[in-house]
Amino acid sequence: MIVARGLVQTFTTKRGRTRAEVRAVDGVDLDVREGEVVGFLGPNGAGKTTTLRMLTTLLRPTAGTARVAGFDVATQSQDVRRSIGYVSQAGGTYSMARAGDEVVDHGMLYGLSRTEATSRGRALFEQLDLPGLWQRTPKQMSGGQKRRLDIVMGLVHDPALIFLDEPTTGLDPQARANLWDHISRLRSERGATVFLTTHYLDEADALADRIMIIDRGRIVASDTAENLKAAVSGDLVTLEVADPERLADAATALATIAGSVEVEGRLVSGRVARAGRAVPGLVRELDRTGIALDAIEVHRPTLDDVFLTLTGRSLRDAAETGPQTGPDPGPDPGPGGPPAASGPHATTDLQGAER
Ligand SMILES: Nc1ncnc2c1ncn2[C@@H]1O[C@H](COP(=O)(O)OP(=O)(O)O)[C@@H](O)[C@H]1O
Ligand SMILES: [Mg+2]
Repeated sequence: MIVARGLVQTFTTKRGRTRAEVRAVDGVDLDVREGEVVGFLGPNGAGKTTTLRMLTTLLRPTAGTARVAGFDVATQSQDVRRSIGYVSQAGGTYSMARAGDEVVDHGMLYGLSRTEATSRGRALFEQLDLPGLWQRTPKQMSGGQKRRLDIVMGLVHDPALIFLDEPTTGLDPQARANLWDHISRLRSERGATVFLTTHYLDEADALADRIMIIDRGRIVASDTAENLKAAVSGDLVTLEVADPERLADAATALATIAGSVEVEGRLVSGRVARAGRAVPGLVRELDRTGIALDAIEVHRPTLDDVFLTLTGRSLRDAAETGPQTGPDPGPDPGPGGPPAASGPHATTDLQGAER
């Protein structure tokens, strides 16, 4: 569904008389299969939105190529736009129209009949917890409700490929859980391909079949959350040995499944790849040789451990102190609007190649 090779985006920023070049995306390759849910994870300023804007034809790559839903983003942008749903980070721009009318118009622009657009729109309002808001204007909605309206707009035409840029930022926990459910169903019931960006570790962990971690414009890892965690550090297994005399025996037993073992007080610990599979055998062995334990603890590494190992920084710190975010790219009219909104190279902005 998505094949990208060597995607690069540079922006030129001016501060006074000095011009600086920002390499926001620095040679990104992507391969996303049909039906996959990919979580594009990285701190603020890592290049997630910029990558998405290139894939959705809103921003022309400085270098590199991408095919999305089988079409080239540079030469077949109309076809790309018709094939996708896109929910931008900034949110859509709204007219004064009522939410329901906007949703129906939007569906009709993508070729649905009025009846189809209405029934799909109504169903999405229901599923995303917006009942009763069909007649409201977006101005009369809360931030979280507007965010969910953005998502309805991105989904009303039932696209097979959906791009979501930080979809749950600004949602309360309940709305976020609903949206997670909805995204899972898009995949399981409709076979949709979902490419979503997030800086929330738990979100990527919960939703994505595969996680791609981007840092400073480069992909630093791409695998299942499970494999990333296993490859990077393994699970930390700690045994609290009842009898101090048996510490050395316990350490020997743990060493059969752990890379290296540390002993501290009555605690014996070591990193074990896929502890869930290895620990039951260890427990049987300890039992067989009469080594009593007061406790056994398995700490699963988090994606933050993965990020830390790969980049030397914690994702949370990186998000707080990451590169300063540039000027807000502003709301996107793009695939959120009519497919024929603008030609492939309608306007060229001084900042890189916005259009
Ligand atoms: N229109 C722009 N002009 C100049 N710099 C930009 C522009 N858009 C993004 N950037 C810069 O590119 C980098 C990546 O930004 P972005 O893709 O928005 O990151 P993310 O979505 O991961 O937070 C940041 O350093 C940001 O300041
Ligand atoms: Mg972003």
